[in-house]
Amino acid sequence: MNVDNLLKQLTTKEKIGQLLQLAPFYFDIDLKAEVAGRIRSLNIDREGIFMSGSVLGISNASEMIKVQQKYLDINKHKIPLMFMADIIHGYETIFPVPIALASSFNPLIAFQTARISAIEASTAGIHVTFSPMADLSRDPRWGRVVESFGEDPYLAGVFSAQMVKGYQNDGIEKIGNLAACVKHFAAYGASEAGRDYNTVDVSKTALYNMYLKSYKTAIDAGAKMMMTAFNVLDGVPATINKFLLRTVLRDQWKSDAVTISDYDSLKQVLDHGCAENEKDAAYRAIQAGLDIEMASVCYVNYLEELIDEGIVDIKKLDEAVLRVLQLKKDLGLFEDSFKGASIDREKELVRSKEHLKISKKVALESAVLLKNEQTLPLNKKQKIALIGPYAKSKSTNGPWSWHGKIEHNLSLEEVFNNNDINLTFVSDAENIDQLSQQNITQIEASEVVVLALGEDARLSGEAHSRSDIKLPNHQDTLVKLARSLNKEIVVILFNGRPLDLSNIMDSNAILETWFLGSRATEAIFDLIYGHANPSGKLPMSFPRTVGQIPVYYNHLNTGRPLTDNNQNYEYLSRFLDVENTPLFSFGHGLSYASFKYSDLEISQIEFDVDTTLRLSINVTNESQIPGHEVVQLYIRDHVAKISRPVKELKKFKKIWLEGKQTQTVVFELDIHDLSYFDSNGNETYDSGKFTIMVGSNSQETLNIDIWLKGVKHDYQK
Ligand code: GLC
Repeated sequence: MNVDNLLKQLTTKEKIGQLLQLAPFYFDIDLKAEVAGRIRSLNIDREGIFMSGSVLGISNASEMIKVQQKYLDINKHKIPLMFMADIIHGYETIFPVPIALASSFNPLIAFQTARISAIEASTAGIHVTFSPMADLSRDPRWGRVVESFGEDPYLAGVFSAQMVKGYQNDGIEKIGNLAACVKHFAAYGASEAGRDYNTVDVSKTALYNMYLKSYKTAIDAGAKMMMTAFNVLDGVPATINKFLLRTVLRDQWKSDAVTISDYDSLKQVLDHGCAENEKDAAYRAIQAGLDIEMASVCYVNYLEELIDEGIVDIKKLDEAVLRVLQLKKDLGLFEDSFKGASIDREKELVRSKEHLKISKKVALESAVLLKNEQTLPLNKKQKIALIGPYAKSKSTNGPWSWHGKIEHNLSLEEVFNNNDINLTFVSDAENIDQLSQQNITQIEASEVVVLALGEDARLSGEAHSRSDIKLPNHQDTLVKLARSLNKEIVVILFNGRPLDLSNIMDSNAILETWFLGSRATEAIFDLIYGHANPSGKLPMSFPRTVGQIPVYYNHLNTGRPLTDNNQNYEYLSRFLDVENTPLFSFGHGLSYASFKYSDLEISQIEFDVDTTLRLSINVTNESQIPGHEVVQLYIRDHVAKISRPVKELKKFKKIWLEGKQTQTVVFELDIHDLSYFDSNGNETYDSGKFTIMVGSNSQETLNIDIWLKGVKHDYQK
């Protein structure tokens, strides 16, 4: 298909139609839509519907075939619809939510989950997924932290890139592969107070050095689309932000990704107060470089008028439409408009045994052991009381799991029973008010109280932010009860965000499981009974209290830093009523094994911009228990033109160590691992001291100082 020639055959109205995305029921009123946003009826006529370019959300192959066939029967140029959907962490086989996936610190399983998601979703004829979400997230009050890869730009970038590669694999034209749409461009995770859709106001240096990095890594991995964020950036809504959509995406990153608004976000430019009417919104969007408009009709209703009035150059429209037609061509849709949609493939591939087995394997690596006073692993002889809202629950899929059916999952109670565990008492009580005296007597007969606590999945996700991040409904009273009965207490957490756990720290062990998907409870059982060794690490800090937020590891030093040596001095950057450090730090995660780090060595102490530094460190498993360890490498740039974080993750390796085994882990660093961006987005670096830190988490590391030579500071002659 020659898309240039096809473009020439289209009228202006037909071109504009290609930039419209509608929910499936516009094509057939019986079809349901799967979108998070509010569904609104749009003032669009039948002609407009059958000129539109893509569909948002589809349920299965027969629906897709029905819509596509009906559309092609009516569309004059037989230009096939593109089908897009939110395949965020699985299709029907549900994997751990992205914040859990990031906790694995194993990029390969991100690739695997994306691969399987693409294979399953493609059976429904889906061509594009609105994933990965690359938004850097530092505020656990934000509901969408659950969909993110946490607070570090490098980790978020690595995982975003692997998801892109997993979806797109060996070419989006091939059946079983999806085009990836990175989102939400940009800095949506910086919504003030963690309140969704709220104002974002970040500096250009924070933008380039923290918030933009993961989107760029995903684009560099070949992502075919970019979705704009709901928020403003520098006062301008991202959906009409020329700096983002042209200067950064096109000029600086040289990307030809198709851009798409978020749901209704172009119309919401009026709510932002940045367009007088929808005609003004359409004008600003096409000038800024927005291609597809999702679920609103500013383009459909006003773009032709703007062009006819000579206010918008038709070249701007042609540029956008050409990108859309090119993507349809790259997807192979002109050759096969029903690509992948197959009821037989659905039966064969969706929720296959193999996929479910991988879901469990991924879950095993995505849980984080936060605390353990030798209570875990349990043994099968112990008498157990299993209590809490997740004791009997199957709801472990988390938000954004449209096609995953929780009734297919097992509850913890079922898994315990399937393994003949001696359960003295089981209850889904959330707090002590829901327990009788008789219940307490039964609990007293147990040796270990396993508390399955957490948040309902609906307390996370889009439009679901919380101002209080403690466990809801006084669940902490169950810990207090078990403590008063002098029991061993194991807390298993099911939640979509870092929580304030300060009121359950009396527990002997805490396992953070987030929402681990279709095989969550079987994985949790294996972890707490030692059939598997926990290996997850936190991708985001857990605050001591909500008042500490934002609290993240890669913070600046400030001019009055609190250090180990000046605690008694008054005039420092600190609170009067809580420590500066989080309750659990980025990179924290325990194992049943114990790992010792030694012999950190580097190829040279003084280096120049062309040097490749080689670091090695020995990691020893001092226990007999085999397990994974995530070796993390951080840097600190002590002197630069802008203040630099006290530490930044730059490399990590997840290794396997048998009992008593020592492994030498090697890293290479070059100037690009040590550089930073100025406020214009130019990469730069300065001579002087750097510290390299290597360890098991962001707080406990072996350190070595090195010096960059040959680059003069401005004050030097
Ligand atoms: C939602 C979300 C976005 C999603 C889109 C389509 O409002 O913000 O992440 O991909 O709409 O469902």
